Amino acid sequence: MAGRLAGTTAVVTGASSGIGAVTAEALAAEGAAVALLARRIDRLEELAARLDTPTSVHQLDVTDERAVRDVLDAVVDERGGIDVLVNNAGVGSMVPVTEADFADWRAMVEVNVLGVMAVAHAAVPHLIAAAKGPRGVSDMIIVSSVAGRKVVGPNAVYAATKHAVGAFTEGLRQQLVGQHVRAGLVEPGLVHTELTEASDRSTPDVPDNELRVLLPEDIADAIVYAVTRPARVAVNEILIRPLEQER
Ligand SMILES: NC(=O)c1ccc[n+]([C@@H]2O[C@H](COP(=O)([O-])OP(=O)(O)OC[C@H]3O[C@@H](n4cnc5c(N)ncnc54)[C@H](OP(=O)(O)O)[C@@H]3O)[C@@H](O)[C@H]2O)c1
Repeated sequence: MAGRLAGTTAVVTGASSGIGAVTAEALAAEGAAVALLARRIDRLEELAARLDTPTSVHQLDVTDERAVRDVLDAVVDERGGIDVLVNNAGVGSMVPVTEADFADWRAMVEVNVLGVMAVAHAAVPHLIAAAKGPRGVSDMIIVSSVAGRKVVGPNAVYAATKHAVGAFTEGLRQQLVGQHVRAGLVEPGLVHTELTEASDRSTPDVPDNELRVLLPEDIADAIVYAVTRPARVAVNEILIRPLEQER
C-alpha cells in the first residue's frame, strides 16, 4: 500500500477505543502495518476487520510486564520489527481526593506510569534495531495530557502520572538521540472518548460545546505528523487544546 509509512510496522497500545483506535486507523491509512494492543480483544478484532493494511491483534494488559515483552516479541517475529510505537493506553479517574478510592489511584499509576514504562522498556531494543534500517529513524510517541503540564480540577493523581510520563519521555529522548529513536510527547486537552464519558459523572463542568472538546482524530493527526517527518526532524512535544479550553 502506498503512503508515507508504507513498509513500516506500527504498534498502538490502547487501540480498542478513543485516541488509540483512531490513531491506528490513521497510521494504517498511511500504509503502516499495525499491531493493535488492548484488553478488549473483540474491539480490536472489529477494528482490524476495517483496516486495509496487514494487521495483527494482541490481547494485552500493560500492567503485566511479562506479557508486554511477549507481545512485542511476537509482533517482531510476525512483522520483522517495530518502526513506530504509540504508547497510549491510559486510565483516568477524576475524583476529589477526599472521595477517592486508593485502588483507583493505584490503577492510574500502574497503567499510566508503570504500563507506559513496561511498554517502552520492552520496545526500545526493537526501535533501536529499526532505526538502523532504510528509514534511518524510529518513533515512540507517548500520549500524556495537558494534565502533564498543569494541575487543574480534581485530577491530582492523574496529573501526577502524566507529569511522570513527561519526565520519562524527555529522559528517553535524551538517551536515545544517538540511536536515532525519536521519543515524542503528545499532550491532549479534553478529547471526546470513553475516558471523558466515564469521568463526566465526577466532573459536572465537562463542556459539551464543540469548540470545547477535541475529537480523537485531532490527536491522531498530530501523531501522524510527528512520525512522518524527515529523519532529521524530531518533534519532541505537541500540546493540543480545544479552542475554548482555557486551562
Ligand atoms: N480523552 C481525553 O480527554 C484525554 C486527554 C488527555 C490525554 N488522554 C490520554 O489519551 C490516552 C487514551 O485515552 P482515551 O481518551 O482514548 O480513552 P479511552 O477511549 O478510554 O481509551 C483508553 C485505552 O487504554 C486501554 N487500556 C486501559 N487500561 C489498559 C491496560 N491495563 N492494559 C492495556 N490497555 C489498557 C483501553 O483498552 P482496554 O480497556 O480494551 O484494555 C483503551 O483502548 C490515555 O493515555 C489518556 O490518559 C486523554
